[in-house]
Amino acid sequence: MSAILRVQDLQTFYVLEVLGTRKVVKAVNGVSLDIHENEVYGIAGESGCGKTTLLRAMFGNIEPPLRHFGGKVLYRMDGEYLDALSLPLHKSREMRFTYIAYVPQGSMSIFNPVSKLRATFMDFLESHVPGTMRKSLLALAEKHLESLGLSARVLDAYPHQLSGGMRQRVSIALATLLRPRVILADEPTTALDVVAQRAVLQLLAAVQKELQNTIVLVTHDMGIHATIATRLGIMYAGKIVEEGYTPDVFASPLHPYTQFLIHSLPRIGDKRVRESAPGNPPSLLHLPPGCPFHPRCPYVLARCREEVPPLLEVTPGHRVACFLREVNHGTA
Ligand SMILES: Nc1ncnc2c1ncn2[C@@H]1O[C@H](COP(=O)(O)OP(=O)(O)O)[C@@H](O)[C@H]1O
Ligand SMILES: [Mg+2]
Repeated sequence: MSAILRVQDLQTFYVLEVLGTRKVVKAVNGVSLDIHENEVYGIAGESGCGKTTLLRAMFGNIEPPLRHFGGKVLYRMDGEYLDALSLPLHKSREMRFTYIAYVPQGSMSIFNPVSKLRATFMDFLESHVPGTMRKSLLALAEKHLESLGLSARVLDAYPHQLSGGMRQRVSIALATLLRPRVILADEPTTALDVVAQRAVLQLLAAVQKELQNTIVLVTHDMGIHATIATRLGIMYAGKIVEEGYTPDVFASPLHPYTQFLIHSLPRIGDKRVRESAPGNPPSLLHLPPGCPFHPRCPYVLARCREEVPPLLEVTPGHRVACFLREVNHGTA
């Protein structure tokens, strides 16, 4: 299967000048991913591991202090791959929200508090579609909202008149109006109550079903990945440390970090205190040598302190970056 979006050994770092010294935050540090058509690809990991930075780079949005140090983001268009990080401005503008849409973290803030949603909506779309299409946009917007189970009347509301969950759903509906092939959604359910979370997830599922497209869903909430993600990438310190089909990752997590993430999920009827990974994630300013997880890993080997484990396929479709698995694999 050829990927709809490819990330190849991507490195994007924040470069900060603080009191005359240069600091480099390695937020995305050698990520390779193939995103398939018609799947929900989940990206998980603790706060600060680089999820938002990766998503922004996938949208082709690398602006100072973030800088591109290497690797590629490739969009598949008409059977060929375009380098998203060196597209001419008019081309990237044309592709945004038609090929790829981005729903940023805290997307409530994309609405203008003093305008009705209809006005914000039209301003936003008019900057992304050719003049000839603009007339039909409003009708299209109303139809799209209704097809997703939202009343077109929300367009007559001011943002403050809607609940947080409804605003989030409307922002997803708007970002998907032009039928993008890929939707990047950053923590769309964070800060919502459980009922609103479910409504947002149902909406994402409805969008995916209607458009038959691809969603890249970032959330630190493993429970949400378990319900909606087709495949799952686990991110740690700017790297993907494990990737696989969601049922495989949950049934046999291979990386000790993934095991911690899964074992810290609450379970009904289980009153035991859940362990979380001891210690804190490393600072992306001062990464430890070797495997970035080694200072927290209960199974650390001498080698882990010196070498960075490569991400290798252990069983079909299931990749992990861990020397323990290499040993097991080799001796099995
Ligand atoms: N504008 C910025 N300037 C400097 N460092 C940043 C900036 N934004 C994020 N970072 C740093 O980059 C790292 C990754 O952040 P982010 O991509 O937001 O992670 P996540 O979304 O997983 O929480 C963190 O160490 C964060 O402090
Ligand atoms: Mg984030």
